[in-house]
Amino acid sequence: MSLTLEERFERMKDIRNRILQFKESPLYQYRLDNKYFPVVGEGSHTAHIMFVGEAPGKNEAETARPFCGKSGKVLDEMLESVLLNRSDVYITNIVKDRPPENRDPTPEEIKLYAPFLDEQIEIIQPRVIATLGRFSMSYIMNHLGLSAQVGQISELHGKEFVAKTDYGSVTVIPLYHPAVALYDGSNKATILSDFQVLKKYI
Ligand code: URA
Repeated sequence: MSLTLEERFERMKDIRNRILQFKESPLYQYRLDNKYFPVVGEGSHTAHIMFVGEAPGKNEAETARPFCGKSGKVLDEMLESVLLNRSDVYITNIVKDRPPENRDPTPEEIKLYAPFLDEQIEIIQPRVIATLGRFSMSYIMNHLGLSAQVGQISELHGKEFVAKTDYGSVTVIPLYHPAVALYDGSNKATILSDFQVLKKYI
């Protein structure tokens, strides 16, 4: 059953409150010590397309906004290329607090924070989940019953996988993390071309 706008808003607020108090997380004290914020997510609560990244970086933890640094600039360019605005979609991460030194999220952190992401998916009920990077690709595909098809991101990027959920079917589209365009500019063309598959769902 789909939720009213008010119900979606209230449930998202409740998720935010729980994350603010998430003392079980090994990242909680680091957040307090650095006066960081958790990054819950941003965008439309009725979005058809949801983007799932890995974890907030420094800029994100300082502003509470996902993808607002250099990777975010790449993501904005990609969204623009398919005529999408941030307000049309919902953007979040698996891990909601910044891991120190921009290290990869640990399996323990992913396990701890993933239930928040699962709830966000239930609230928004997106038709498409575009994963950004290998961690969110593996998590989302395994979570949505696509384990048999999980592989290397170098093989799966830009492909579409249909999963069944309690609210209907959802298409999972693994995409490279926008940061790969920062390490090697030649990757940008691949990311740009992968993004074009989203046009089918707008
Ligand atoms: N990288 C991510 O995976 N998420 C962000 O919000 C920013 C950078």
